[in-house]
Amino acid sequence: MCGIVGYIGREKKAEKVVIEGLYRLEYRGYDSAGLAYVEDNKIKVVRAKGAVSGLDKKSSNIQPQDLAIGHTRWATHGKPSEENAHPHESFKGELAIVHNGIIENYKHLKELLMDEGYIFNSETDTEVLANWIEHTKLKRDLNLVDAVHEALKFVHGAYAICVVEPSAEMIVCAKKSSPLAVGIGDDSFIIGSDATPIIGRAKEVIYLEDNQIAIVTRDKLQVKDIDNRDTGFFPEKLLLDLQAVEKKGFESFMMKEIHEQPETIADCLRGRLAAAGPEIALGGIEDVMPRLLRAKKITIVSCGTSWHSALIGKYLIESLTRIPVEVDYASEYRYRKPIISNDDVVVGITQSGETADTKAALEMAKGKGALILGVVNVVGSSIARLSNAGIYTHSGTEIGVASTKAFTGQVAAITMLAIKLSHRLGHIDDEKLMDLKDALAIIPDQVQEILDDSAAIESVASIYANYDDFLYLGRGINFPVALEGALKLKEISYIHAEGYPAGEMKHGPIALIDESCPSVFVMPHDDSYEKTVSNLQEIRARSGKVIAVTDKEDKNLTEAADAVIIIPKTEPELTPLLTTIPLQIFSHKIARIRNKDVDKPRNLAKSVTVE
Ligand code: F6R
Repeated sequence: MCGIVGYIGREKKAEKVVIEGLYRLEYRGYDSAGLAYVEDNKIKVVRAKGAVSGLDKKSSNIQPQDLAIGHTRWATHGKPSEENAHPHESFKGELAIVHNGIIENYKHLKELLMDEGYIFNSETDTEVLANWIEHTKLKRDLNLVDAVHEALKFVHGAYAICVVEPSAEMIVCAKKSSPLAVGIGDDSFIIGSDATPIIGRAKEVIYLEDNQIAIVTRDKLQVKDIDNRDTGFFPEKLLLDLQAVEKKGFESFMMKEIHEQPETIADCLRGRLAAAGPEIALGGIEDVMPRLLRAKKITIVSCGTSWHSALIGKYLIESLTRIPVEVDYASEYRYRKPIISNDDVVVGITQSGETADTKAALEMAKGKGALILGVVNVVGSSIARLSNAGIYTHSGTEIGVASTKAFTGQVAAITMLAIKLSHRLGHIDDEKLMDLKDALAIIPDQVQEILDDSAAIESVASIYANYDDFLYLGRGINFPVALEGALKLKEISYIHAEGYPAGEMKHGPIALIDESCPSVFVMPHDDSYEKTVSNLQEIRARSGKVIAVTDKEDKNLTEAADAVIIIPKTEPELTPLLTTIPLQIFSHKIARIRNKDVDKPRNLAKSVTVE
């Protein structure tokens, strides 16, 4: 997600404060970074694709400054690149801007500006905004503050912006729907898209309201409303604990990340569902589409949680496209002498993009001529680079070691891939495609509904917190969700939990069942529901406790199960995006009751770069 930092003050350290602030915002996830400052009455811009450290290196020769603005970009309009990175300088050099959010009418504004002779150097909506403000300023002979105020009257969408001009007298900030804060230091003002860059540099902060404009000079802060009237401001004391701010009030990073899922799933879907025509737009695979459509077989390799999304991918791709799909643990694939040909497509699913086993497996397949697709969260990571094509999941940085939002991002991405291939191959018609797209579009709201009901899920978890063995069961596409539920519980609470296909129980694991081993059933009302109810009865008949996650009240189920958790209804292909959520909350609660450090479970690392 994009991040903003700004500094204006009496001390000449603006570039340092801004870069340090950008480092602090890295946790939000981004693909490029940049900063702007003023030298000899000219705006200077430094930008770099990739990590803030790249920008830091490129900026090492900047003379100490007392004003700078900076940005970490997470691509929405235009690919991650240096040209598309912020800040953007306006065409005639009157100003530079950093921007979070999306300008919805940027195409219209761009056309108007092109008619006026404006030329654009990037694909971004932000450059359009920079030029729109400049055009308003010059055409109506306004000062910067009035130009920002007047220009924004014609802008639709969401924004948090900081604007500077060559006179370097002020930073003009404005916001609508995207957050922006101004920290009030002893001899400086520090601006941030959240409080993280401000901590330790200011004891008080103001959070701008929608439609407010803040004019920040070296010794004064002024806030104006939509009618350009002075509103005054009411500073709040700033929490001094960086971690607490980053956790946004949640008790753990994992819980924060669980709650971010409506946003992160929406980020993964953004732009892709809204493509012109019925298609799903997956820009990163368009070039290899002919080869994908010809594939005789698709192999997905990954590890851990990512392996579970691979299994969900198998169910979806096979059922929707009729292309055979193999799923392999990356660590097994490498050493089992797999048969790989030039016609093969090998997909690597990985949050970090650095997992050694997955990387080595993909390198091996690439060496044998397979087409490599990466479904990756971390932009520019090793696996993203070695892939021939791919889909970024855009889940933002995941700090909790146990994956939550990165998993649902992977599931959203692989689901879109399966639907797109199915439509292109003619297995689903436009109508079915639209139904699936419409259903996908409301998944973020449905996830929010589940999160709003977390207390009910947590109270079920409280009842089961002292059990030492669990089974997680499901059929079809619900089986990998059961595996993921079991993995989450064992990772963070150290309770023994196993995932099994519900129909496989009777072939062995049912021997484990008694009153001390509860079973969690993942059982939305899909084709396998009735059969799963029978499996549930088999457990009940052996005194096993049962917790069911389903999507509709069912009297028989309520009577049979000890607890029923109900999630909203969606298309059968999309249920993993919803059934996963209660299982995450359930595990988190049990681990907290058992007093475990959920963010840093013992023996585990976030990025497994050893084989
Ligand atoms: C579990 C978890 C791990 C990772 C696995 C692969 O919650 O996060 O199982 O999924 O180590 O990591 P990536 O996805 O980075 O390749």
